[in-house]
Amino acid sequence: MGFVKENGRTIPVADKVFALSGRAKAAIAAKGKDAVVNATVGALLDDNGDLVVMSSVAEAIRTLTPADYAEYAPITGTPAFKEAVVKALFGNYEPSGHINLCVTPGGTGSITSVIQNYSSYGDSVLTHDWCWANYKNIAVSQGRKLKTFRFFNEDGGFDAADLEKQLNELAAVQDQVVLMINTPAHNPTGYSLSLEDWDAMIDVINRTACKVVLFLDIAYIDYAGEEDEVRAFVPKLANLGDHVLTIFGYSASKTLTAYGMRLGAIVCMAKKEEDAEEFRRAAEYAARSTWSNCNRSAMVVMGKIYADPELRAKVDEERRVYRDMLLERGRIFEKTLNDNGVKCVPFRAGFFVTIACDDPAEVGRKLEEQDIFCLALAKGIRVSIASISKEKCVKCAEAIAALLK
Ligand SMILES: Cc1ncc(COP(=O)(O)O)c(C=O)c1O
Repeated sequence: MGFVKENGRTIPVADKVFALSGRAKAAIAAKGKDAVVNATVGALLDDNGDLVVMSSVAEAIRTLTPADYAEYAPITGTPAFKEAVVKALFGNYEPSGHINLCVTPGGTGSITSVIQNYSSYGDSVLTHDWCWANYKNIAVSQGRKLKTFRFFNEDGGFDAADLEKQLNELAAVQDQVVLMINTPAHNPTGYSLSLEDWDAMIDVINRTACKVVLFLDIAYIDYAGEEDEVRAFVPKLANLGDHVLTIFGYSASKTLTAYGMRLGAIVCMAKKEEDAEEFRRAAEYAARSTWSNCNRSAMVVMGKIYADPELRAKVDEERRVYRDMLLERGRIFEKTLNDNGVKCVPFRAGFFVTIACDDPAEVGRKLEEQDIFCLALAKGIRVSIASISKEKCVKCAEAIAALLK
């Protein structure tokens, strides 16, 4: 007899990812790290298997004063942090419309906030079928459902037609839909919407008969490629109709290699000032009633980095080196897979590559027998290339191809 109320959630006995990575760590302890491929970790590790921590960020952290971490922060974030988020998010692009933002505990908090404030109890929130599993947990925890559209059509392209079909189904029963899109360097596939995909998606949204809140989860943007190129979609957002509100989920976890500092933001780009003001009220209320204030010291660090051109250049340069390391791992993994006659789900960049297969749990089990640890999803195997060296990318891709051919 327990006391917990499930409330529509399915609370697992153990978190699947943590259980899997626990087994990988046990294998490393028993056989040594060279013998084991631990491709389960959602953080960037160097070729030695150590967590990448940017020294320039660590340097900024060391300048914190006791008051920086002792004092409460303003509920929506410190002014310097807010300025920093706008710079980090838009880069060299000028956002159109009225910007307002609120600090959140990581990108995760921004997802909680957008669902809480822009959908009703019992509503369905729409996202792509390949998606971060936590989307469903966050939706269901708040009494919402998660509906999906097919991300890729038979030709491996963005399935705008299915997006339209699923959006229309919701538009028939809801007055507003939250549409969550994770791009660029999507988790778990590594796909990035092309500019043509953006045009197609914007056309579909503009034809939708209900209000749409377009939530763009850009958690991996700084590892997706060259800074301007990965933000080239920003001007296109001005083409969205008046029935659309654009909201970004920003995360400093990967951008600053600061996963543990729990820093992110929800950022609205509204056509009308009143919608931006309404956003501020609602985001502030959601924050106050869930996590309250966020980590002040993390905000101070980010504020310092983006206010100091020299420090920012150091951080950007350090990240660029790691980004290129990650991009190279992705290229090597995909090439090895292709050379061995297997294709992955369309991949462009990022922390993960996914290979679709019929019985992912069984494939995952067979890989584990070879001391290769990857996450079995409902429709495929997710490999964290962020956490394994180039050599292990080759080994892992070969092993997967041998099982799937
Ligand atoms: C797709 C996606 N969005 C958002 C997040 C949020 O990360 P955090 O809360 O650490 O910023 C993650 C983390 O893994 C993710 O994979």
